[in-house]
Amino acid sequence: MYQSIVTEIDLGIGIITLNRPERHNAFDDAVIAELSTAIDMMAVDPAVRVLVLSSSGKSFCAGADLNWMKRAAGYSTVENLHDSRALAEMLRRLAQCPKPTVARVQGAAYGGGVGLVACCDVAIGTLDAQFALTEVKLGLIPAVISPHVIAAIGERYARRYMLTAERFSAAEAYRIGLLHELVTDAEALDEAVGEVVDALLNNAPRAMTECKELIAAVAWKPLSPAVIEDTAQRITRLRASAEGREGMNAFLEKRKPNWIAQG
Ligand code: COA
Repeated sequence: MYQSIVTEIDLGIGIITLNRPERHNAFDDAVIAELSTAIDMMAVDPAVRVLVLSSSGKSFCAGADLNWMKRAAGYSTVENLHDSRALAEMLRRLAQCPKPTVARVQGAAYGGGVGLVACCDVAIGTLDAQFALTEVKLGLIPAVISPHVIAAIGERYARRYMLTAERFSAAEAYRIGLLHELVTDAEALDEAVGEVVDALLNNAPRAMTECKELIAAVAWKPLSPAVIEDTAQRITRLRASAEGREGMNAFLEKRKPNWIAQG
């Protein structure tokens, strides 16, 4: 069904693998369309509780395919804008996916590759991963990825790395908050991703969706009466929900809640 990505669903885990290793998983309009479809399908598929974004080969993702970007430069303004919007929309779908998302990062993540990492809720990478926001080197800007990247690393580090286009190490990515965890090699990467996925699978599915919406609703907002009221409304709704009742009852009755496989 897909040409440039591979998807699989197993035991509640949906995995989307970028699969253009000969191009270091750079994405063009076709890859963006496939990713958008796959994210949408995983978002609504009840068999998927957690989404893992992975990639094959040496690099995680070399960002936008520069052949495509070059081609788009020759389009009419309307077509060019249509293409840019498709990328922005794919990133939004990933960032706002109702299921928790985990990025499994090895090798190079450049430009839009950094954007993909930043869109995921949890990002784990190997020590050999390398990052760069190379756009200004190419006469471009990291425009559609910027809301996600700035949310991940903050304005201060965005100023440095978006302006210098320097390469930075996995250790630096960890230090500035792009990666949550650093591991030595591919085997340790699978193990660390597996541990995070297991933690997510133990949590109430609807609560995690609501939790993502909560974070988006309160992040960067002043502590106004409206924000305080909104948070009170949210917990009121959740503790009266079927999941909330089940979770609290399960704890008090010393049993597993019904969203965890029994046995
Ligand atoms: N778009 C299109 N093609 C790309 C690409 C991209 N973003 N990134 C890599 N490729 C292609 C290369 O042009 C090369 O093609 P060729 O075999 O036809 O010559 C092939 O992938 C292998 O790349 P190469 O540079 O030889 O591999 P490497 O292992 O030395 O380096 C990277 C890998 C990813 C570090 C390097 O290719 C790179 O810096 N790519 C540009 C990434 C970038 O700046 N992305 C942001 C775009 S906004």
